[in-house]
Amino acid sequence: MKHADFTQKHVKDKIIQLLQGKPVDVLLSDMAPNASGHAVMDHHRIVELNTHLLDFAVHVLKEEGTLVCKLWSGDQTRHFITTLETVFDYVKIVKPDASRVHSAELFLLAKGYKNPKFEQVDDNE
Ligand SMILES: C[S@@+](CC[C@H](N)C(=O)[O-])C[C@H]1O[C@@H](n2cnc3c(N)ncnc32)[C@H](O)[C@@H]1O
Repeated sequence: MKHADFTQKHVKDKIIQLLQGKPVDVLLSDMAPNASGHAVMDHHRIVELNTHLLDFAVHVLKEEGTLVCKLWSGDQTRHFITTLETVFDYVKIVKPDASRVHSAELFLLAKGYKNPKFEQVDDNE
């Protein structure tokens, strides 16, 4: 799916179709829009992208699953974390060593997804 725009419904539908109804353990995103250099605007655009990811989770992420996404910090960071906390048991900000200290880049690690759509799948089945 080269050059596919994840925010498009048909792209999400295609991913769901490729998964053949099997929920995933982890949803990991390093997606980020091309930076414009305008920090506030770039922050809002990456939050919007991550909101698409979060909306998508309900279709594919297992109960108790994990989501990891990249964020550029800004005024919506706290609100986005609070939103994640409504559907995950645990949310943590992670700043990898590889990320420059003064960069706005951070990652959010969210564990324990509460997804009513998928029942707990027994790995031994
Ligand atoms: C920091 S780079 C990630 C690079 C990736 N980890 C790799 O090793 O190739 C951010 C990526 O997010 C992608 N991206 C941004 N907006 C996107 C969107 N709406 N749909 C799909 N990918 C998107 C960009 O194309 C870019 O490749």
